[in-house]
Amino acid sequence: MENKFYITTPLYYVNAAPHIGHSYTNIAADCLARYYRRLLGKENVWFLTGTDEHGQKMQKAAAEAKLSPQEFADKMIVHFMELWRELDISYDDFIRTTEERHRRVVQQALAILNKKGDIYQDKYEGLYCTPCETFWLESQAANGLCPDCGRPVERLKEQAYFFKLSKYQDWLAGFIEGHPLFIQPKARYNEVISFLRLNKLADLCISRPKERLNWGIPIPFAPDHVTYVWFDALLNYISAVGQFDKNDQYTSKWWPASAQLIGKDILRQHAVYWPIMLHALGIEPPKTVFAHGWWLIGSSKMSKSVGNVVSPIDMVRKYGIDVYRYFLLRDVPFGLDGNFSEEAIIRRFNSDLANDLGNLVYRTLTMIEKYFEGKVPGSKFPALPAYRSGRPAGRYVLGSGEKLEAEMKLLNERVSKTIEGLDFSGTLEEIWKIINMANKYVEETKPWNLAKENKTEELGGFICLLADVIRTTAKCISPFMPATADAIQEQIGQDRIKKGKPLFPRIDVN
Ligand code: MSP
Repeated sequence: MENKFYITTPLYYVNAAPHIGHSYTNIAADCLARYYRRLLGKENVWFLTGTDEHGQKMQKAAAEAKLSPQEFADKMIVHFMELWRELDISYDDFIRTTEERHRRVVQQALAILNKKGDIYQDKYEGLYCTPCETFWLESQAANGLCPDCGRPVERLKEQAYFFKLSKYQDWLAGFIEGHPLFIQPKARYNEVISFLRLNKLADLCISRPKERLNWGIPIPFAPDHVTYVWFDALLNYISAVGQFDKNDQYTSKWWPASAQLIGKDILRQHAVYWPIMLHALGIEPPKTVFAHGWWLIGSSKMSKSVGNVVSPIDMVRKYGIDVYRYFLLRDVPFGLDGNFSEEAIIRRFNSDLANDLGNLVYRTLTMIEKYFEGKVPGSKFPALPAYRSGRPAGRYVLGSGEKLEAEMKLLNERVSKTIEGLDFSGTLEEIWKIINMANKYVEETKPWNLAKENKTEELGGFICLLADVIRTTAKCISPFMPATADAIQEQIGQDRIKKGKPLFPRIDVN
């Protein structure tokens, strides 16, 4: 593995407040960033998020709010920043496409591509979906409705500038096939490859005439036009890390990105337009673009236009930050769609958090309090824990203890393998296997009998192993549930415990 990690999220449109779908990507990215910071050190990880503020949709929303687009954007980004603070999102940089550092890079990129002959002028005739900010061919939206969101498209006929996507189609297909980890998961890789095999790429219209849309980045060689919002927004991933800043115009400390997380609805832009734009600019594509699935309510995607959005802030206030983060990353494998409901959160809460994790921590602390006066026995019996090497088989650790210890030793490796493959639910499953084994170990060992029979050494070894399991699992869950991991470490301490209230008191469904 290289010794730096650059992770990005999409830039969110700020025409409306963020919902659960938006929070999902940032939580996943945050989890990965926290994991890599521990592995690579803080200075080698860079986590970028931000907002997409240009385009027709924004201009329209601002007009409805009777504000200028800039005033409107300034007002709306507060919702995003507040949510990221509330969710403990540890981003390193937040980019807005209205910033000067971004505008400069977009204009430079346009100038380079124009000089190279990759941009040309032509008449555009076709269809446009404003809510999706997407162009469609007549054949794709034959009934006058957007094939993605189902809303009416408008007919456009105007002079425009085009970027020669088609010129790079063969290069792209070869690149994707040569880099099987570039598009993930596998289903999305297949989707893009078959799209490229079956279709001829049309060149991308990258301009809008100012007379119709003036809220955008001016095209340096075409003063009557602004840049198409997607062409503008994609470049954030390099503008934020100082592309073209130095004399050596194509280097950046962070680029290429290690992982770019997106939702599956914006795959085409990230897996087709984006690598071609970069390649045409002489810049390496990112290592991985990972498209996750959608959060659905019933069978429809959660979205403002459908009117079924759930506010992440409400969920966090009701269930807690870590519970919300845990639920999103645990309940559905990253890459697949999932159904969102409060019943599902409560189910996860009561089983995984209250019954499994919370119970293990609480009962262990209670035993340390009761049998060892609050001192973790490892420190009281320096010769212990007896379950470590050199003891007569089965003497201190009964049955499942040996297996538990062996499995615990493999946990770090299993966590690395799954989380580095962006399999967040898989990582949590691995961790929970250990937690469940530990709970079973308590039930099988029946420590209350050991106490009754004054078998202090056995009891000491037993509790030592549990304390070890708790410390190890707390470390592994910290990228997912940072505050919970801290609370556990604090309670179990190094020497003396600090038992508090149960971490996750069961939610009574009635
Ligand atoms: N502005 C563009 C992205 C530009 S990136 C250079 C955009 N913005 S968005 O606000 O509409 O969507 C941002 C992200 O939220 C997308 O990745 C999208 O997939 C994700 N989600 C929006 N609704 C979602 C769900 N219901 N479920 C999961 N994620 C979804 O597109």
